[in-house]
Amino acid sequence: MSDADTRRHLRDAFGTFMTGVTVVTTIGHSGETTGKPLGFTANSFSSVSLEPPLLLVSISRSSSNYATFSTAKGFAINILAEDQRDISNTFARPVADRFSTISWQNGPHGSPIVDGVSAWFDCATHQIVEAGDHALLIGRIEAFAFTPAPGLGYYRGSYFTANSAAIAPGPEVVVTAVVERDGAVLLIDDGMGGLTLPTAKVGREGATAALAKVLDSLTLHAAPGFIYAVFEDNALGHQHIAFRCPCTGGMPAKGAFVELAPANLTDVTDPAMAVMLNRLAEESRQGNYGIYFGNQTSGRVAKLTGDAP
Ligand SMILES: Cc1cc2nc3c(=O)[nH]c(=O)nc-3n(C[C@H](O)[C@H](O)[C@H](O)COP(=O)(O)O)c2cc1C
Repeated sequence: MSDADTRRHLRDAFGTFMTGVTVVTTIGHSGETTGKPLGFTANSFSSVSLEPPLLLVSISRSSSNYATFSTAKGFAINILAEDQRDISNTFARPVADRFSTISWQNGPHGSPIVDGVSAWFDCATHQIVEAGDHALLIGRIEAFAFTPAPGLGYYRGSYFTANSAAIAPGPEVVVTAVVERDGAVLLIDDGMGGLTLPTAKVGREGATAALAKVLDSLTLHAAPGFIYAVFEDNALGHQHIAFRCPCTGGMPAKGAFVELAPANLTDVTDPAMAVMLNRLAEESRQGNYGIYFGNQTSGRVAKLTGDAP
């Protein structure tokens, strides 16, 4: 197994642990960030000690905020409430000013406290522990507050709430757009440092409408084509319907077209998606396509041309 595969599987394995979602904040103290609020989404929060009162969160050393957080005098942990998934998304994506769309105040120790959170902890930096490609920010809690508002949950790459968790869910159906142009496929940022295909969960509107919405959001001249794969994703428990969507022009609103070749697909995070795209690369080379039914490890390809299987 390659290093990239191992990392991908490890990320999926970590994802089987249900967590809350937090936004970690501080105020910039050097260069052009001086005095500005900074923050990122994190689910690696953990309580550490009652006496003294300590907590920790793990920050990637490749984060653009790493230098600031690892030298700040303090930081705050905001435990997001269940109606704050938009805030989680904003603070996980490359947005110029993540604070421009939220209400917040300075906490008693000085770090930004987001309005409407389930709980917050305003901390003094107690210790920074470098740990592999991350560092643990250990904070000493100087002030905190909590409310009865239920927290937002995160599990296998999706948000959940106490209400949704109580209802036994069936597999979620997801439409996946394989947008192709001149031997290249459109890949977008998955918000976790990897790449993915544009997808949307199918609601009451049905798969066709969900796919049309995905394509509209890309602002491309692309139309739904044939179903290319129907597969269960063991990692996230989703049922995927992947459509090939030929594209004739336009600039994508997000992501970039990447030539369909195995070497360009190593950053595709989802294992089932990576397998599917590698098959598409091979089949495009041969000009001989099949439709796949199965899960991420085993399944059946029904050939559209050539000999029947
Ligand atoms: C649910 C969720 C949990 C995350 N948890 C962490 C985390 O614990 N530590 C971390 O460094 N990044 C985590 N991330 C990724 C960061 O939020 C994201 O990479 C970061 O905001 C990128 O921007 P930056 O370079 O400006 O920090 C998480 C993202 C999401 C969506």
